[in-house]
Amino acid sequence: MISWFSVSRKGRVAHPARAVAGVIFLAIAAPWAAYGANGGLMSLKKVAVPEPSNLGTVVKDRNACVQLGKAFFWDMQAASDGAVSCGTCHFAGGADQRSKNTLHPGANKLFEKGAPNSTLKLSLFPFHKLSNPNDRLSPVVSDSDDIVGSQGVVTKNFGGIVLGEAEETGTSVTNPIFNDGGVNTRQVTNRNTPTMINGVYLNRIFWDGRGQNLFNGVNPNGALDPAAKILADDGAGLKPESILIDHAALASQAVGVPGNTTVFTWKGRKFSDMGRKLLNLKPLGAQAVHPADSVLGSVADPSGKGLTTTYASMISAAFLPRYWNSAATTADGHSLMEANFSLFWGLALQCYESTLISNDSPFDQFADGNAGALTATQKSGMSVFMGKGHCNECHSGAEFTAESVGNLAKTGLISRMQMGNGKLAVYDVGFYNIGVRPTAEDIGVGAKNTLGLPMSLTRLAQSGANVGTTLKPPISPTERVAVDGAFKVPSVRNVELTGPYFHAGGMATLEQVVDFYSRGGDFHEANIDNLDPHIENLALSATEKTNLVAFLKSLTDDRVRFAKAPFDHPQLVVPNGPTIPAVGKDGGAATQPFASTLAP
Ligand code: HEC
Ligand code: HEC
Repeated sequence: MISWFSVSRKGRVAHPARAVAGVIFLAIAAPWAAYGANGGLMSLKKVAVPEPSNLGTVVKDRNACVQLGKAFFWDMQAASDGAVSCGTCHFAGGADQRSKNTLHPGANKLFEKGAPNSTLKLSLFPFHKLSNPNDRLSPVVSDSDDIVGSQGVVTKNFGGIVLGEAEETGTSVTNPIFNDGGVNTRQVTNRNTPTMINGVYLNRIFWDGRGQNLFNGVNPNGALDPAAKILADDGAGLKPESILIDHAALASQAVGVPGNTTVFTWKGRKFSDMGRKLLNLKPLGAQAVHPADSVLGSVADPSGKGLTTTYASMISAAFLPRYWNSAATTADGHSLMEANFSLFWGLALQCYESTLISNDSPFDQFADGNAGALTATQKSGMSVFMGKGHCNECHSGAEFTAESVGNLAKTGLISRMQMGNGKLAVYDVGFYNIGVRPTAEDIGVGAKNTLGLPMSLTRLAQSGANVGTTLKPPISPTERVAVDGAFKVPSVRNVELTGPYFHAGGMATLEQVVDFYSRGGDFHEANIDNLDPHIENLALSATEKTNLVAFLKSLTDDRVRFAKAPFDHPQLVVPNGPTIPAVGKDGGAATQPFASTLAP
């Protein structure tokens, strides 16, 4: 036990203090008691929010930036069909709870769990069904590589925008996969939607980390794309400018959405087209905004729908004039405000999402000293989480993910450890292959980005590329790297509400997830070269499993559950999903767990 704490077997931080505490406390108290001094058992209220240090070079008023971002996030007019917003796939605890038309065929290109437009049932889960859920080697009852993703738009070619209309013109193109009897259905993403709540703490974003921490104002590729330039006018006309805003993975993520032809756009629409469209529409024009909305209430139109202000005036209020105020137009006829729309979109969404911090769960209250905030069952579950389950090795710190800015500052971005096959390899800290699906189906952070560069920092560093920072340990050109099939550790805060689970969405309940970990994963043997060594047979008892699930539920912040400020929002009509009423700062109905929304 002592050596487990003090030796960095996994290449994660060795905590000398924890080792000492471990010696003292482990014999006499629950294992989690040892973590108090070390930050493991810590309220998120105590963790600094990693805000960009140079936001002020572009943003002049942070509150105005948040307000603009909230309008952008929920505005259904942004997508080509005028019916999809960011919130469409991030509406339930920050995730998507739809069950109709949510399947993406897996690597074998076949729909196995239902046709396009079909509705998921609870009995279809888990997608890897074993005759004995406690034994990963027991006979497989059924297995499917289908993915539960989120539906965006139907496939079309972009025709143009019609000023004053939310829906663009376009021509239909039959989609060979997403159609129901020849009629296009909304396309579904090839990964499950994670919550964006607490996203501000993440270093890199997305399951595969392709959302770069540095924001270049244009696209998700950060410093990897030196050609990405915005425009500025200091009185002498438009001139290209390079920017790199730090701690802005949320902005990098957000600018990837409008050009995504599955999620948001018809093929051929430029960012500036979306900008021109929105600049000519009433913000949230088709949606009710609650007068008591914590951010938009002051500009909610009392006549019923939308805001009393315009996107142009919101941008002017939030950003420095040199980025939007110019008489000049671009070669293709766009105003400076339209041309720089990606800059405003990215940073405004970053500003808004940075306010979506859930740090008042029963767990936080407990860690802050209220011993009664957790039930006895939850405390026992915490012992499993911090002890026998090794869960906090990866879901670590107050953020409950090793991939947070704060945790990586302690561990470093890359490290070396023995993988499942017992051989040493270097890997990206915060990204692990835990045997959810066979590695080859989706290689996660092992893949290349749109520039053809490895997304893995380990591979980048090994190739000698400049990754903007010195990575330790140094890697030799021939050293083994284990990053294939590794995915970012998601935070498990609010996980009660964010099902279905894992990058492929093949598990509907936390009980199924806990069974998965207890048996040492599903594709343990198949993925062994890259597998994390903590994915092993834990043999948790039925009581330990119940307690662990109870502990996971103590990570739900009731403000998230009831959509209270800062999680309140405008009305939203979710295609193939619910119509969610506008709620103000005091919140509304409780979000239910995904599984309880399904038919048996
Ligand atoms: C059609 C559904 C859909 C829409 C619309 C959508 N997202 Fe997402 N979002 C996803 C999926 C799926 C992922 C995971 C993709 C991946 O990792 O490959 C994701 C990932 C994210 C993440 C990363 C979270 C993490 O833990 O890494 C953030 C933040 C986010 N989305 C914010 C937004 C914002 C902001 C918008 C609007 C600009 C938006 N999303 C629109 C489906 C959607
Ligand atoms: C080796 C690192 C590691 C360990 C140990 C670990 N996890 Fe995870 N966890 C991950 C990664 C990586 C994912 C995402 C994997 C994927 O989707 O392929 C994940 C996903 C999850 C999810 C799904 C979250 C979501 O939003 O989909 C839950 C719940 C979870 N883990 C709980 C636990 C519990 C409980 C334990 C302890 C029994 C545990 N984890 C141990 C790395 C780990």
